[in-house]
Amino acid sequence: MVTFRLLISILLLASLCAALPPLKRTGWTIQWIDCASHVPQPLKNTSLPATLPSTLHCGRLNVPMDYLQPMSENNTITLGFSMYRPQNSQGLINFNPGGPGQEAASYGWRFALNLTDASWFAGLEAFDILAMDVRGTYSSNPLNCSLGNWTLSSSLPASESEFKALQTAVGMYAQSCIDLSTPNGIVSHVGTSETVQDWESLRQALGYEKLHHYGISYGTFGGATYANKYPENVGRFALDAVFAPGLRNLEMIQNQFRAINRLLIRADVYCLNDSTCPFHSQGKGSVVQAFKTVLDRASSNRSPNPTADDVRNMVAMDYLVGDPDFPELNQALYQAVKGNWTAFNYTALASIYTSAIMSIAPIYCLDYHNDDNTLNGFNKIRQASVMDDPARVEYIFYLALHSVCSGWPYSAASNPPLYVDIPMTLVTSDFDYNTPTESATSEWKQAPNSVLVVRHGDDHGTYNVPGPARSAFIDFLVTGELPRAVNQTFATIYEPRSKRDPVPDPYAVPGERGLTKLQLPPKRSLTLLLPYLIPFVTFFHSLGYLDIDHTLIG
Ligand SMILES: *[C@@H]1O[C@H](CO)[C@@H](O)[C@H](O)[C@H]1NC(C)=O
Ligand SMILES: *[C@@H]1O[C@H](CO)[C@@H](O)[C@H](O)[C@H]1NC(C)=O
Ligand SMILES: *[C@@H]1O[C@H](CO)[C@@H](O)[C@H](O)[C@H]1NC(C)=O
Ligand SMILES: *[C@@H]1O[C@H](CO)[C@@H](O)[C@H](O)[C@H]1NC(C)=O
Ligand SMILES: *[C@@H]1O[C@H](CO)[C@@H](O)[C@H](O)[C@H]1NC(C)=O
Ligand SMILES: *[C@@H]1O[C@H](CO)[C@@H](O)[C@H](O)[C@H]1NC(C)=O
Ligand SMILES: *[C@@H]1O[C@H](CO)[C@@H](O)[C@H](O)[C@H]1NC(C)=O
Ligand SMILES: *[C@@H]1O[C@H](CO)[C@@H](O)[C@H](O)[C@H]1NC(C)=O
Ligand SMILES: *[C@@H]1O[C@H](CO)[C@@H](O)[C@H](O)[C@H]1NC(C)=O
Repeated sequence: MVTFRLLISILLLASLCAALPPLKRTGWTIQWIDCASHVPQPLKNTSLPATLPSTLHCGRLNVPMDYLQPMSENNTITLGFSMYRPQNSQGLINFNPGGPGQEAASYGWRFALNLTDASWFAGLEAFDILAMDVRGTYSSNPLNCSLGNWTLSSSLPASESEFKALQTAVGMYAQSCIDLSTPNGIVSHVGTSETVQDWESLRQALGYEKLHHYGISYGTFGGATYANKYPENVGRFALDAVFAPGLRNLEMIQNQFRAINRLLIRADVYCLNDSTCPFHSQGKGSVVQAFKTVLDRASSNRSPNPTADDVRNMVAMDYLVGDPDFPELNQALYQAVKGNWTAFNYTALASIYTSAIMSIAPIYCLDYHNDDNTLNGFNKIRQASVMDDPARVEYIFYLALHSVCSGWPYSAASNPPLYVDIPMTLVTSDFDYNTPTESATSEWKQAPNSVLVVRHGDDHGTYNVPGPARSAFIDFLVTGELPRAVNQTFATIYEPRSKRDPVPDPYAVPGERGLTKLQLPPKRSLTLLLPYLIPFVTFFHSLGYLDIDHTLIG
């Protein structure tokens, strides 16, 4: 329910003002703006109605760049946000789609106007939905960085000179962000610890006693961070596709190796079920075998392209990211076995992959605690992960990010677990590569009064997958009642402090989305990552500005 406390105190102040000397202002003042003249970047090309719905609201809030210092001319960030606001709102839900740094403000519009992805909010019509661009992105003082035409190699750094060269290149990129972004100093103030203070400032400014939270992917990390820091203000928190704090670097990376190996088997499961899969007649295990054959052939390729590293990189940066594209992967492997390598041309995509990684680096690296910042530390992690990588994929994006962050000038001093007593609803799917399902189990240990919802199936996130798992967390947001334990084909729901079953055998789980997906036309083109990766950094190129749509973690 809306609290009228703020309104009452403002009225009180107004009546006292005449009599008393001016009080020091401690509150926040939202500046409501005309939505029509502030269309979020992703919707600039969408045809919008001449009259925008009355449920759509757009605003700005000035907050300190550095919360430890008073707000001043050079210590101000202007947060941009949109809201869907029905009459008689039942509460405030803060929506964050992750990224880190994924554009958020368009989601109030999407819901209010029933545009693409409005279905993510189905069931939440009675609530105020707040969608704020996190600081350093889009309408909230976007960082401005120059990538030039530097691209990441498809291989991870292996020698001291490669490691140093990567650190130097990353350092130059970071310096460009520092030099080109305003206000001065912002690059060291775009971390999640500050973003949750921004959400808190907005909660106060909007006059709500409690904040509900609907976080997806990296937005779950922000949710857990907020819940740990402001327990008294926590309403209903639903964390979908959990990215947990408190994991050691090695544990995170091992989890992602396990996840990508499971996904390769899931590609085989789809092939068994899909008579149009080129390996269909070859039976169980044929996709995993084809991947091995392709790696072996690429390793002994006499032509310069592609290398085995190119294949590994493209599988890990494209084919299996987000909502994995199993039919495309299976086709690409089949063509490569036949000698047609076009689907593994890393050169054609290097700049997109580089942008994908580097656009999330400013927030990710600032939040990341690097346990050992040296090549030796990096190699130790790689060696310790071999057992978790039977298919020898060897490349995963958490490893790439680890190496990139070793050259970033700012990082988290530590990465403690963030305990949360308040019951939340945590959601995961068995076969998520971006945020491996083990991460949700780790979060559950840090939030032991929470319910864990496990969707049996594929893909990163459940927000757009109708079924019992989605209903469980949407109902929780609406009613505040924790989901009850169930054990069904498409979901198992665990009560607080119960024991989670092991991750199931990939061959034993039905593919409730994959079968639908197989009927869709191929969506991939040369801009392979674009559906998954949402932009936030404005890259300054000598050729002009390049806006890239990117979300890696999600
Ligand atoms: C917007 O639409 C125009 C015309 O359809 C197209 O040429 C342009 O590339 C689009 N811009 C973006 C950013 O999608
Ligand atoms: C803010 O920064 C500008 C440019 O660096 C400087 O000229 C100005 O004095 C600063 N203002 C304050 C209040 O520090
Ligand atoms: C929203 O759009 C979907 C299809 O995009 C449609 O099925 C649905 O009826 C629309 N809802 C409303 C309230 O207009
Ligand atoms: C990088 O871009 C600049 C400016 O567009 C160009 O002059 C230079 O040749 C490019 N370098 C490489 C290695 O492509
Ligand atoms: C980004 O930097 C370029 C180069 O200095 C500058 O022209 C541009 O105005 C900056 N953009 C923003 C949004 O600050
Ligand atoms: C080569 O592979 C690509 C991508 O898989 C495919 O689009 C193309 O048709 C193939 N070319 C031939 C000659 O089969
Ligand atoms: C790979 O892509 C690049 C850039 O688009 C192109 O120049 C090159 O010919 C392609 N290589 C192969 C083997 O197709
Ligand atoms: C769910 O059911 C499966 C068998 O159908 C069983 O193996 C598993 O232990 C059950 N899990 C829970 C948490 O009840
Ligand atoms: C495979 O097909 C069977 C029979 O149609 C179905 O029950 C099962 O869910 C499918 N599994 C996957 C992973 O698609």
